[in-house]
Order: sequence, then structure tokens, then C-alpha cells
Amino acid sequence: MCDRTFQTNKRIGVWISDKKSQKLNWKELIKSCKTHGYTLIKMDLDRPLEEQEPIDVFLHKLTDILAAADQGDQKARNIISHVEQYLSNHPNITVIDPLDNVRILLNRYSYYTILDNEPTFKKNGIFTPTFAEFTTNNIAANIEILRQRGVRFPIICKPSVAHGSKLAHEMIAIFNERGLRVCKPPCVVQSFVNHNAVLHKVFVVGNRYHICKRPSLKNFYPSEDLDPIFYSTGEVCKADSQSTLSILDPHDQSDCKTKLNEEKIRHIIRVLQTEIGLLLAGFDVVIDNVTGDHAVIDINVYPSYDNFPNFFEHLLDCIDSTVNRRNGDGNIHEVSNVYDDFVRNHRPNGLINVGMPLNKCDVIGMNIN
Ligand SMILES: Nc1ncnc2c1ncn2[C@@H]1O[C@H](COP(=O)(O)OP(=O)(O)O)[C@@H](O)[C@H]1O
Ligand SMILES: [Mg+2]
Repeated sequence: MCDRTFQTNKRIGVWISDKKSQKLNWKELIKSCKTHGYTLIKMDLDRPLEEQEPIDVFLHKLTDILAAADQGDQKARNIISHVEQYLSNHPNITVIDPLDNVRILLNRYSYYTILDNEPTFKKNGIFTPTFAEFTTNNIAANIEILRQRGVRFPIICKPSVAHGSKLAHEMIAIFNERGLRVCKPPCVVQSFVNHNAVLHKVFVVGNRYHICKRPSLKNFYPSEDLDPIFYSTGEVCKADSQSTLSILDPHDQSDCKTKLNEEKIRHIIRVLQTEIGLLLAGFDVVIDNVTGDHAVIDINVYPSYDNFPNFFEHLLDCIDSTVNRRNGDGNIHEVSNVYDDFVRNHRPNGLINVGMPLNKCDVIGMNIN
């Protein structure tokens, strides 16, 4: 990364949960902040924010609290309204990322709808598998919903709420109408895409991205005999997963049309930036083993960037460009950010892959959602 020291003296207020805080390498983060001329302040949401040190940037991972607030949890609601009040009293604070944008990703049905309505996906060989939402346990009505929405077995049933607890990642593969009895509304059901058990996880920080491969579900076919299969995302898709659900059946081994096309990935990143507007996001792609089309099956807010090379440096570059852009202070950014200059000159669409060559970036790490 570029060797530079900024003299901005700005303050970044950070809030992440205690659990995430224990895993975070604060020393490295503080170091990167310092190099970029920022001071780091740990925000305490249990104390009045107005009484804490003033900040220029609010960097947060409030997804679980936002989800709990949406579900009616009073404590979570109080925290969110406290934060929102504070941010509206201080409109000059740069929020990464804005709470309303984060909210879009709390509900799977709402973000699948955005993906589904994207007019440029189809001609670029990108899609989101057909999906529907069940709000009741009425099997006959649900069969009709599947028919109307073109959702075909096998399907994956996922809780509509995508964050907030482990339950949000309890999935069910269902092979026939009989299996629909196990769905617990509100849930989203989505057509299963055979992808030879390879999941591509894309991690985005502003205009930079990194792609990792993870294990995924083997190919499935509709069947009147099979019972539903329950799994949690962590069990199957973690880097070191030993799940038998990831082992391809013998007749599936040979066909391997599932090559990742990075142009498609960049197209998806651009669309997500425009339609959802998050600087810190990730998404999951599986590649249809018949057509080679890329299916976006999940989008995440501020994923765990464990494998993102030099994450803190990229994070601070991204924060710095955003702050400077907001302040109309383009010059500092233009002159000092050598990395972004490189991007502008070498990538017409301004996105750059900061990772290793794809084949060297195989399964490592912890984040599974
Ligand atoms: N439509 C689908 N087709 C094929 N596999 C899927 C599909 N949806 C989910 N999966 C598998 O299930 C896993 C979990 O689904 P995902 O939507 O990513 O939920 P989570 O929020 O728990 O990460 C995926 O990583 C993938 O392995
Ligand atoms: Mg996922």
C-alpha cells in the first residue's frame, strides 16, 4: 500500500458488538487510523452519545440490533432511535453505512426483489433464482404461490430475516410438495441452482473487492422420495467444513462449467452500489453448472473481512475518500490516494481486485454467511 501520512485529525467513532470486538485486531486498526490521520473512538451505545467525544465518521455494525428492533425488541429499538437521533443532530458525520441502506438487507425477500428487478442482469448472464415468501403454513396456498412465482423443486427455505441470530442461518433443502410442511413462516423459498458445490464469496470495501471460494451444497434434483434436509450455513459453507452435503455424487463429478467470470462480479458490485448503496458489503454467487450463468443468492452487510488482504488499509482509504468526497475536498483525495489513482488509470469501471489470483485464494477463514 502507499506510504503516506495524512494530517486530517479527524475522529472515527466505532461501534461493533462485544463478540466482534473480542476478535477484532484493534492494534492494527488503530495503527491504520493513525497512518491516515484519524483518531479512533470506541462508542458506547449505553451512554448518551452526545456526552462522548465528537466524531466525524461513524463506523458501525448495527445489523443485529437493527434486526432485533424491526422484530419489536424494545431495548434494540431504544438503541436505534438513540443513534438515529444523534446522527440527525449531527448531519455532517459520515455514516458507514447509512442505517436505511443497511435496513434493505435485513430482509431476504426485499433484497431478492431488488436483484430480480435489475434490468441489466439477464443480458449479462446474471440472475437471482426465482423466489417467493411464505407468510402462513397453508400448504395448498403455498403450492399455489410457488406455481405463480415459478419457483421449482428442489428449493431452499430460508428465514425471511437475514440477521439477528443463528436462527437466521438455519436452512432447509426441500425436494417435493410433501416437504413443504417443515417451512416456518415468515420464510423465503428459492429455487435451488446446481453449482457443483462451489460457493464464491465476494467481499467489497468501496471500490475494492476480494473473492474467496468456499464449499457449498452438492447438486440436488427434484425427488418424490427425499425428506427435507436441515442444515446451518456454518456447517456446510465454512472453509474447513467436513459436511457430506458438500461431496458431489459420482455422476456429477465430470461436468465443470462453473468458471467464475470476474466481469460479471464487477457488474454485480456496481449494481449493488447503485441500488443498495453500501461501502461495506459482501455477496454470495453460485454458478449454474448447465448455463454458466452467475446466481446471486445472498447479500451481506459488513461481512467478516478475515481474508481480505490489508483490510484495515483499504477500509481507511475508503473512509478517507468518502469523507473527502462529502466535504467537496476532492483535491486531498486526488493527490494523496495513489491507490485510487492507480484504479482510475487501470480499471475503466474503477473497481479493483485486491486479492491473490483466484485459484490461490481457496478456502480459508471463518466467515460463513
Ligand atoms: N438458491 C440456491 N441454490 C443453491 N444453493 C443455495 C441457494 N441458496 C442457498 N444456497 C446454499 O445455502 C447456503 C446458505 O444460503 P445463504 O442465502 O447464503 O444464507 P446465509 O445468510 O446463511 O449465508 C449458501 O451459501 C449455499 O451454499
Ligand atoms: Mg450466505
